[in-house]
Amino acid sequence: MGDVVSNESLANLLKEERRFAPPADLAANANVTAEAYEQAKADRLGFWAEQARRLTWATEPTETLDWSNPPFAKWFADGKLNVAYNCVDRHVEAGNGDRVAIHFEGEPGDSRAITYAELKDEVSRAANALTELGVRQGDRVAVYLPMIPEAVVSMLACARIGAAHSVVFGGFSADAIAKRVADADAKVIITSDGGYRRGKPAALKPAVDDAVAREDSSVEHVLVVRRTGQDVAWTEGRDVWWHELTERQSAEHTPEAFDAENPLFILYTSGTTGKPKGILHTSGGYLTQAAYTHHAVFDLKPESDVYWCTADIGWVTGHSYITYGPLANGATQVMYEGTPDTPHQGRFWEIVQKYGVTILYTAPTAIRTFMKWGDDIPAKFDLSSLRILGSVGEPINPEAWMWYRKNIGADKCPIVDTWWQTETGAMMISPLPGVTETKPGSAQRALPGISATVVDDEAREVPDGGGGYLVLTEPWPSMLRTIWGDDQRFIDTYWSRFEGKYFAGDGAKKDEDGDVWLLGRVDDVMLVSGHNISTTEVESALVSHPSVAEAAVVGAADETTGQAIVAFVILRGTANADDEGLVADLRNHVGTTLGPIAKPKRILPVAELPKTRSGKIMRRLLRDVAENRELGDVTTLTDSSVMDLIQTKLPAAPSED
Ligand code: WT7
Repeated sequence: MGDVVSNESLANLLKEERRFAPPADLAANANVTAEAYEQAKADRLGFWAEQARRLTWATEPTETLDWSNPPFAKWFADGKLNVAYNCVDRHVEAGNGDRVAIHFEGEPGDSRAITYAELKDEVSRAANALTELGVRQGDRVAVYLPMIPEAVVSMLACARIGAAHSVVFGGFSADAIAKRVADADAKVIITSDGGYRRGKPAALKPAVDDAVAREDSSVEHVLVVRRTGQDVAWTEGRDVWWHELTERQSAEHTPEAFDAENPLFILYTSGTTGKPKGILHTSGGYLTQAAYTHHAVFDLKPESDVYWCTADIGWVTGHSYITYGPLANGATQVMYEGTPDTPHQGRFWEIVQKYGVTILYTAPTAIRTFMKWGDDIPAKFDLSSLRILGSVGEPINPEAWMWYRKNIGADKCPIVDTWWQTETGAMMISPLPGVTETKPGSAQRALPGISATVVDDEAREVPDGGGGYLVLTEPWPSMLRTIWGDDQRFIDTYWSRFEGKYFAGDGAKKDEDGDVWLLGRVDDVMLVSGHNISTTEVESALVSHPSVAEAAVVGAADETTGQAIVAFVILRGTANADDEGLVADLRNHVGTTLGPIAKPKRILPVAELPKTRSGKIMRRLLRDVAENRELGDVTTLTDSSVMDLIQTKLPAAPSED
């Protein structure tokens, strides 16, 4: 296989000439300046040792990195700390107990403000409750909850007693819970009667009951938060109400100091095949990088900012940028239970207005949905409190980036496009809002202290202007320590493709300035007549057409070209799906934007695209459709009826040019 990126398309993306300098006032008061890059370059480990001092240690570490047995890293190994103390107690001790930690906004419109002092009491009671249920340091606790404050409290309570949590996304099935619980060998599951979803209470406990009923379940207790008040089946002796157990606990709990390498959590990522991978993160290094990146990339001013990350707690974004990073920094944040369209499509903007949100962190999939709903919706709300906008989860198409900046950011807020993974634990590549001149669509540059580059098939670093594979060349504090229970799979998956380097699985390229552009998972790269073409680029070209809101592109087997490009597009409000001329127009638009080789052979207008519950497009399923195959596993889809819709609408292949 040659370069991941065809030269034709490469030449075109490099035509991006729009640049946005940081606002002067933001740059003048930024938490982090350009000097951080120099400092970290001169002494990377010294830089991280200094960032570790942002935390409060019971025993200060004397050693920064132990890399004597790669790829198994130890960071700050002789240090001891309590993660929950760092996220809660120390802010109360510093006199900030009255500061709101969480503004909770429930989907039905109920709300609740929790101060740091209240959070300390709740976490302490929950830590005592888990102890009463027999949970000890080194044990695992599964968490299967909606987006309610008890999710954060549960995670911190585990951290406080040195047990590792394993959060399972509340949309997953009994089967998924059972697999993850068994793999982690969890003793307790924390769940709720239900949560609110699109205006209705949805049950959660039946899936847990089903999972725990399976043979050999390791689960001794199910701790149940009351959220909706719906009836639940009850197993005496095993099931315990959260409120009954925690109310009778003391609000005092002495946080014990644990080793920096004590496991903090396991989080499962699906991977493309086989059983889910339990990504293991530990304490001191993870918290150092989560806190530092949240401070640097969002320029957080804890006294004045109101921060909102719209991710679910079931994803790593919720772990690092709802629970650990923001709370370690003493932030005030918004937590929202529901979906962006309930009860109306302006719900997010209503929340920004209500709480005066200053920093918003969301995903490209959400941004493209807002684009589709129309500019007039955010325009009805006062978004003037916003000062920084973040993006994560997928490459953000330049068009979506511009829309976000203009319609949400009043054409002034810097956008930080943050590249990272469950495995990296925290942000790795991102602009700094007070430093970087941003470019629509590029995550740009590794953060201070992080070493990332792009290599070719032979592991040679590509020159500026070249494309290949994204790799991380030095260990970083919040790196995964292993795959839970499977060191060999850890080595094989991440450290074997390029010797001594971490292989992220993403295609990437460097532009003429040396800035990094992410091109999607390498499994999604297409090979058309011997040219490697990135799905991301063709999608971005389609989305840059005024009639297209969202696009998903796959390579389908083709007798003449090896693979042929097939595009599924969601049209904007006024465009007509039956308009033959439009399809031809779209093909030509891609041709002129990227070059003739990138013209899709087929373009299919559809109403919805198949997405995982974390919002990523499932190109694998679209490939099945495009190749007339039986659909593969659809269990991680948000809505499996989407696929029926797409399949029935599949028109015959159009003739070629
Ligand atoms: C994969 C990791 C990181 C938290 C959420 C996803 C893609 C993530 C970006 C970005 C381009 C991105 C990559 C990565 N990705 N952020 N800013 N630009 N691609 O975590 O589920 O572990 O997925 O998401 O493909 O490898 P995850």
